Amino acid sequence: MKTRLEDALQHCPPQLAAALRPYIMADTFKASFSAEEVSVLKHASGLSTTDLSLALLPLAASYAITPLSHFNVGAIAQGISGRWYLGANMEFASAPIQQTVHAEQSAINHAWMCNEPRLTAITVNYTPCGHCRQFMNELNSAQQLTIYLPDCAPQRLHDYLPNAFGPKDLGIIDTLFDPQVHAFAVQSDPLVEAAAQAASLSYAPYTHAYSGIALQIANDHWVTGRYAENAAFNPSLPPLQSALIMLQLQGYSVNDITRAVLVEVNNAVLSQQSASTAILTALGGYSLETLRIDLK
Ligand code: THU
Ligand code: ZN
Repeated sequence: MKTRLEDALQHCPPQLAAALRPYIMADTFKASFSAEEVSVLKHASGLSTTDLSLALLPLAASYAITPLSHFNVGAIAQGISGRWYLGANMEFASAPIQQTVHAEQSAINHAWMCNEPRLTAITVNYTPCGHCRQFMNELNSAQQLTIYLPDCAPQRLHDYLPNAFGPKDLGIIDTLFDPQVHAFAVQSDPLVEAAAQAASLSYAPYTHAYSGIALQIANDHWVTGRYAENAAFNPSLPPLQSALIMLQLQGYSVNDITRAVLVEVNNAVLSQQSASTAILTALGGYSLETLRIDLK
């Protein structure tokens, strides 16, 4: 991943590339920049906030995994905390094409998994597709969210999605990024507890089928992913995709996975098991432990 990040610097203005190099070479770099780092990069590059976010898109796009399209999309979700979260599209060979993660979903999921309370803007290198516009309409910031694109004036999400269909149409007041706690009655080993913790923070106001995944990557290290439902159902982000995004953005690869655990609600109206198993099989035959647990 470090080589891909370094290669991406060739597509950034030289002063920005020089300022970025120490960040991306650090082992602690996890595909995001704090408010303070953003201001250092602005100062070093002489770019405005918007132009800096556009100039960082090649770096975001370098995280893309695109065996099907070879079309790399990068996105940057800007949090109210001032932190910027990178994201990129992720495709799965040998799995159904519907399992694809879009760059906007990746960046948004990244911010959500880092407990960012709210987004202010998203910068993308291509115009967001209908699926992503719908995914973004689930956010607690949907009414105010600004979209920045190269060669296009900034516009609000709702300029791209007039007469939007959203949670309220289904009588749901909750929105994505609103704090969730659906505690699971579990006492088990740390990886199962991590998956249960992710499930408890998942967002499933339409089905209540809360679910989470934990992927072990070394003896004492793992990444987790949470299910994020959508009012229009299809743009929902499954927990495995959420975890695989975090795996990629933290600089790991699927080859590093040593164990995978899915936790979902006992007797739920839907299950992530078969879709998650299909992807893990396509990725190299990883088996998935599934636990169905009662809520407390
Ligand atoms: N893609 C995105 O990541 N965002 C969009 O909104 C447009 C499409 C990705 C999905 C797929 O990996 C590739 O671009 C081709 O559609
Ligand atoms: Zn999209």
